[in-house]
Amino acid sequence: MSETMKISRRSFLKTATAIGASLAWVGPARGSRIHWHERRDLYPQGVASGDPDPHSVILWTRRPFADGGTRQLLTVEVAEDEAFRRVIAHAQAPVSSAADWTTRVLIGGLKPARTYWYRFTDADGNGSRVGRTITAPLPNDPRTVNFAFVSCQDVNEGKLNAYRRMIYEDELAPATEQLGFVLHLGDFIYEVVEYPEEVKTRYDRTIYEVARIPDGGKVSHFHFPLTVDGYRAVYKGYLADPDLQDARARWPFVAIWDNHEFSWQGWQSIQKAGKARPGQSIKVAANQAWWEYLPSRCKKVSGPSFESFDPPAVTNVAIEKWDANGLGDEPNNLSAINSLIGYRSYRYGKNLDLIITDQHSYRSANPFADPAVGAFGQEFTGMFPEDVAQILDGGRAFNGGNPPAEVSFNGAHVPNSQRNAPPQTILGAEQKAWFKDQLRNSTATWKIWGNSEGALDSRADPQNLPSGLLKETWPKTTYATLPIGDYGNAYRERAEIYDLVRDAKITGFAIVSGDRHSFWAGYATSELPPGKFDPVGLSFVGASLSSAGTMEAQEHGLPKTDPLRPLFLADRPDGAKPDWTHNMLLKHGVRSCLEYAKSFDLKRAQSLSNPDLAPHLEFVDLGGHGYAKVRLSVTEMRTEFVCIPRPIARSERQDGGPIRYRVLHTAALWKSGERPQLKRSVLEGDVGLAI
Ligand SMILES: [Fe+2]
Repeated sequence: MSETMKISRRSFLKTATAIGASLAWVGPARGSRIHWHERRDLYPQGVASGDPDPHSVILWTRRPFADGGTRQLLTVEVAEDEAFRRVIAHAQAPVSSAADWTTRVLIGGLKPARTYWYRFTDADGNGSRVGRTITAPLPNDPRTVNFAFVSCQDVNEGKLNAYRRMIYEDELAPATEQLGFVLHLGDFIYEVVEYPEEVKTRYDRTIYEVARIPDGGKVSHFHFPLTVDGYRAVYKGYLADPDLQDARARWPFVAIWDNHEFSWQGWQSIQKAGKARPGQSIKVAANQAWWEYLPSRCKKVSGPSFESFDPPAVTNVAIEKWDANGLGDEPNNLSAINSLIGYRSYRYGKNLDLIITDQHSYRSANPFADPAVGAFGQEFTGMFPEDVAQILDGGRAFNGGNPPAEVSFNGAHVPNSQRNAPPQTILGAEQKAWFKDQLRNSTATWKIWGNSEGALDSRADPQNLPSGLLKETWPKTTYATLPIGDYGNAYRERAEIYDLVRDAKITGFAIVSGDRHSFWAGYATSELPPGKFDPVGLSFVGASLSSAGTMEAQEHGLPKTDPLRPLFLADRPDGAKPDWTHNMLLKHGVRSCLEYAKSFDLKRAQSLSNPDLAPHLEFVDLGGHGYAKVRLSVTEMRTEFVCIPRPIARSERQDGGPIRYRVLHTAALWKSGERPQLKRSVLEGDVGLAI
């Protein structure tokens, strides 16, 4: 064994201990010694691999034993070929009831940028399906990097045709264009589960059976977990999906949770679906199930076990003290949110540093929750004054520490509820400090911030509405935000990060995110006109794989009588499906929408575009579903949105069904001080009003 190999083996053991995986080290290739015969029914959630680096990757499966006591040993084999003639690792993989019969094995000593095959076998020769995984290139390897980013895979209300399409295209692609990994940006599960006998449809969707949640809660038609068995039931239900199983068997996944892996409206350890409740034990349960079902290098801090999560004991108590950054200063809260650390970074060849953050465990209280400000501009569907949003976001730090005592809109004044509150943070102080260090120290060509939440402003210009349409007139002094409550409204924290990028002369900075159930492409800028539009990087949001989006909700929920309906939906005189003017509202403004809804003349509508509304947006489609593919080279970032029709039913086609459109945004690597520039090309299909 060479000296470098010894060192790398030592650090490998350290890593494996920290993440709690079992270990295997590769040896010389030889034929399989196992009498494997495939029994997929005994491995009902398939296989998976996660978080590859140049020399190692984590392999996963679940093999439940009904009468097998509490612990059994499987064998895992890793081979250089799909037929397992050249097996290079052969190791034990323990499964136990303590981890819901899941196992994680970290395989070390692999070669960089290589494809491997793996499988698990029990003592009787009953085998899992064969999985495929790929290691990362070495840090100095200039090869092109390809990955997909995805999010929001609701299988209670839809099907994962997008994965089928991804697999189909990847199999046909030349080796240099095949995906190295899939970045999953959250909502891997939806913890709120509908039961088909209680509710048959929602929007356009059929409700499919997913899981029964033991000892859960319920709000409206939605059941949700309150214990680890509840979360485990949801993961098992989701992973029964064949398209998701095939995707996990084809590529390593790198994942971070969004909100629904814990709680729809929850934050820190507070569980909230309708009513908020102290949920320290629920957050720990959510983390435990995530750790059990998604193989990753996330650090669990509960102990060195390779096999089980070992949850810390916590009590559900109300948080009464908050620190200067809005972090709940309560020991059970801190134990719960730190029981699994999701933020981490990966170097992937010369061209990618992937920096992943957690948007929910450390965030401060929602600054926009005061019902008094919710009454501002109520006639203006979905819109909220941007200047007020900025004041509330800034808290006590607004205006250099002199926030106004009141916030106002059109002569209505209400006390500023955030006057004494900490400025809004999504990242929290500790994670943010880490994140900034990662950005400053990155030496890769592209610094990709993988986060679950979007960062592009969603705004409109109701000040340009013709008078008389509504009783109230929107003031000329401010734009409207159509608030999402993500980084798009975290004005202060976003500016802090973008300022760092500019001041530290960081180039190749780009954000990839999810959560919005829609495709967005544009620029990372802290201000928009009348402020300074000054992009420091690129910003993308990938659509949902399957979850219902804004346009579907509006098709079903927006009243025909709403005088602002043309800003969201343009009803065709022939009764055909309405056009999605909402996309146009965000990119071009109200004048374009009103013209389009009258004439259906796209050119004429776009000629009325308000150039100050959205210089940050190249593309927005609030009705899209699908996935995004990224290709990074030493000179260029290419981001391709692959949009599919609303995935209501499973496509029986081998290619996952038709494509609505495929649109490509490319940017050449810019120099420090230069402005990044996206070029768009529609490669296939019809993008509607998205441009
Ligand atoms: Fe989602």
